[in-house]
Amino acid sequence: MKFAEKIVVITGAAAGIGKETVKAFANEGANVVLVDLHEEALQATAKELQLKEGQYLLVQADVSQEAQVQRYVALAKEQFGRIDVFFNNAGVEGVVQPITNYPSESLDLVIDVNIKGVFYGLKHVLRVMQEQKSGSIINMSSIAGLKGSPNVSAYIASKHAVVGLTKATAIEAAAFGVRVNAVNPSPVNTRMMRSLEAGFAPEHAEQVKEQLTATIPLGRYGESDDVANAVLYLASEQANFITGVIFPIDGGLSAT
Ligand SMILES: NC(=O)c1ccc[n+]([C@@H]2O[C@H](COP(=O)([O-])OP(=O)(O)OC[C@H]3O[C@@H](n4cnc5c(N)ncnc54)[C@H](O)[C@@H]3O)[C@@H](O)[C@H]2O)c1
Repeated sequence: MKFAEKIVVITGAAAGIGKETVKAFANEGANVVLVDLHEEALQATAKELQLKEGQYLLVQADVSQEAQVQRYVALAKEQFGRIDVFFNNAGVEGVVQPITNYPSESLDLVIDVNIKGVFYGLKHVLRVMQEQKSGSIINMSSIAGLKGSPNVSAYIASKHAVVGLTKATAIEAAAFGVRVNAVNPSPVNTRMMRSLEAGFAPEHAEQVKEQLTATIPLGRYGESDDVANAVLYLASEQANFITGVIFPIDGGLSAT
């Protein structure tokens, strides 16, 4: 039980990578605060993962709204007294379009959720961790934060911004004993990749998946538990001297 008694806050917790990470922390004894836009999906997640009464808190929130971020941080603190680990994970992919045709509503959504949501999370959770003089934060970037690829310019820009936020805040937070790292997965088998594959070629999504898979040296997409395992490592005491790191979980893709 590596995380017994630890308080872990996870955004985008009701699906995909966030949900798998909730499961992994809960299995290691953590108390988990699940934050997501979708109330019903939160309830379903708690049921599916058989989270124990008193071991979890569900908070419906839109991470792109600062007041709602303040609220989930305050509720976590009120219920559990502290925040030891923060997985700043919620994100959206936006549409697949060349920049010359990219709709401004999709740009706004991607920037609001993927940059402002991560920024507000850092701002308000770091206030709590500064007071505690301890804690570990893992920001969700992507291979899209390390490399370019066509027709997802807003997403690429947003995930590069998360790299910058991670480096900047790691230095600030080191002064009070808190670590901040980023994880950068290659394609992972979740709803988000199904949406992007269909966006790239609506009639040939399966072929897009095969083409993307062929670019990954280890020859497969990641699974949500590949990412969860890395997040738990970065959150753990074994990673005590690791901060400001941009950590690919990508089957070797960033090495190509
Ligand atoms: N799937 C991939 O291939 C992949 C690869 C690299 C990085 N990522 C990143 O991992 C994170 C999780 O992605 P996923 O694949 O699990 O996606 P997903 O769509 O399966 O899950 C995302 C979750 O975030 C929630 N969410 C979306 N907008 C929100 C908001 N404004 N406020 C609160 N919650 C919100 C959704 O309701 C959903 O439960 C994202 O930041 C994504 O960009 C995904």
